[in-house]
Amino acid sequence: MVLRKALQRLLGTPAVPAVPVPVPDLAPGHAPPVPDVAPPAGIEAQFHFEATKDSGPLGRTTEAAASKFDSLQYRSEDFYDHFPCFTSAKNLSRFVSFYECYKRTLGIAGHIAEVGVYRGAVSFFFTKLALMYEPHGLTQVHGFDWFKEPEGENAPKFPDPASYHEPYERICSIVNVQGLQSHLLLPRVNVLTELQDFFQRNDYLRFKIVFLDAGTYDIVARCIEEFWPRLSQGGILILDQYNFEVAPGETLAVRDLLPEDAVIHTFPQGWMPTAYVVKGEKLAAAEPGMHAGTHAGG
Ligand SMILES: C[S@@+](CC[C@H](N)C(=O)[O-])C[C@H]1O[C@@H](n2cnc3c(N)ncnc32)[C@H](O)[C@@H]1O
Repeated sequence: MVLRKALQRLLGTPAVPAVPVPVPDLAPGHAPPVPDVAPPAGIEAQFHFEATKDSGPLGRTTEAAASKFDSLQYRSEDFYDHFPCFTSAKNLSRFVSFYECYKRTLGIAGHIAEVGVYRGAVSFFFTKLALMYEPHGLTQVHGFDWFKEPEGENAPKFPDPASYHEPYERICSIVNVQGLQSHLLLPRVNVLTELQDFFQRNDYLRFKIVFLDAGTYDIVARCIEEFWPRLSQGGILILDQYNFEVAPGETLAVRDLLPEDAVIHTFPQGWMPTAYVVKGEKLAAAEPGMHAGTHAGG
């Protein structure tokens, strides 16, 4: 979701009519006309592959839609309680992907980790799934982030994941006001330099889901080293930007550090996260019809 917004800011929002567009009356079997829209200026200079396909308005909240929502005097409660009216299909697809992984690992021992939390949408989503499906279980969500403000002129800029900033005090207040202090933990660590120490102090911790969303090579490599041995068999490693040019280091770290025969699935209905790996799964055992490959020889 965050990357979508950042990409949208970077690429500009395609013009979208503010009034309803009549749906063309197509004969069965006829595809709708393909709009004659060039990629937004600048995209070619920055990206050449997947990101160029990720530029269209389909499934996004466009600026026209967002400003219409702003002008129609909805209350905050409308946005919380009636969120499908407003959120985009792409954003929904993201949470459907997390839900599918969660359901698949229900019954596997372990906690849930997110690395790179930002505002916390994914960590809160998993926390609320655990409240719904494991009301008496001890599963906790660990959201690892340094919650650090980018500094000065040399501060990282998009697409560097370090450019995202959520004040630690603010995210803690929304954890606290919802009474989730024992459900959602927010270890404030620099993953590169402090994760190893965190696990030396808490070596027993085991996970059923690990979601990586701070996709530089070094961070993903460090996370695979620390989390993979602590991921239960049957647990799922979820990768936000595998095989996506905005974060090539993620794919390269997977190539270098995951077992060669790890089966890399994608979410057919999804967008980002782009991939997941079920620990212990072998290709012959992968479900027929699933979109999967391995990274052997990559
Ligand atoms: C792309 S954002 C995460 C978005 C979030 N997963 C979501 O879906 O809304 C990346 C996050 O990684 C964090 N981050 C970047 N470098 C880090 C580091 N070395 N240690 C800890 N957190 C880091 C940033 O603070 C930022 O919140």
